[in-house]
Amino acid sequence: MPNFHPPSHRPRRNRASEAIRRATRQTRFDAGQLIHPLFVHAGKEDQPIDAMPGQTRWSLTGLVGEVKRGLAMGIDKVVLFPKIDDALKTPAAEEAHNPDGLIPEAVRRLKRDCAGVCVITDVALDPYNADGHDGLVSDAGVVLNDPTIDVLVRQALCHAEAGADIVAPSDMMDGRVGAIRAALDAAGHADIGIMAYTAKYASAFYGPFRGALDSAPRSGSDKPIPTDKTSYQMDPANAREALRQLALDEAQGADIVMVKPALPYLDILREFRSATNLPIAAYQVSGEYVMLKASAAAGAGDERAMVMEAMTSIFRSGADMVLTYYAHDIARWLKER
Ligand code: PBG
Repeated sequence: MPNFHPPSHRPRRNRASEAIRRATRQTRFDAGQLIHPLFVHAGKEDQPIDAMPGQTRWSLTGLVGEVKRGLAMGIDKVVLFPKIDDALKTPAAEEAHNPDGLIPEAVRRLKRDCAGVCVITDVALDPYNADGHDGLVSDAGVVLNDPTIDVLVRQALCHAEAGADIVAPSDMMDGRVGAIRAALDAAGHADIGIMAYTAKYASAFYGPFRGALDSAPRSGSDKPIPTDKTSYQMDPANAREALRQLALDEAQGADIVMVKPALPYLDILREFRSATNLPIAAYQVSGEYVMLKASAAAGAGDERAMVMEAMTSIFRSGADMVLTYYAHDIARWLKER
């Protein structure tokens, strides 16, 4: 057959074999770039989390086992989220900085029993706050900024004293990174890092997480409690504002900046990549996890292929590291490749 339309360029040459595809592949990642979020509670049982198939609310003993299994696969960074008993939740969230609380205890256990693990703790009040918000809520129903900073600082110090390697403020109050940095330094914790949730959006993809921790905004009192977090988390419509937050967190001493959620915010990751030399973390959140699980369960595609593609796109957009509930699966899939 005569060739009427010979292309002058043939990009397919570089896709012709796995050998050449391996050489031209732009984005690669390994287990060292994954951070595993783990749920912990004070009970003795490891409980399956209904809202997040395959995820568990760990007892302290179960947590140690899970972290050891991760270490054996090269997953050496975890971030801890506590489910706090209702009886311990108060409007001032005092339990957030109880040195004998669940998180300090978990940190001590991990640092004692799991050599080599980097323990990251979440700094925010929602699991401890009777009102379910990341900050203190006034009688008028306003999420207060500056009084909250004071509690967050105590919480960060409490985690540092317990042995946390990095604290991760996820609360989105103004000025908390600088305040935490100054307090850590003054207390002799200059070596402890801050992973700042810099561009954290008021996302509909956090639902399963709030179910796992029973940490959604709630109205247990006479106060008019805001039903969402839009007065402190960012509007999904905003990109320039993310760059403003980035500049602020950089100036206040963040060591790592984060974009959260990940997949619906790849453009923000890309913008961060060109705007900062700091390492960038992306959080593939609970709703993203469940979306992938549910579509795999519905037969929409192969779970492994869909997860690896989503992960590749997050790294391709500029992330240096990703927080993902799939960390153990991904480590296993990377080995099998
Ligand atoms: C709260 C916090 C949230 C997540 C991490 N820290 C929920 C929220 O902001 O309401 C969400 C993580 C996920 O959905 O996987 N400080």
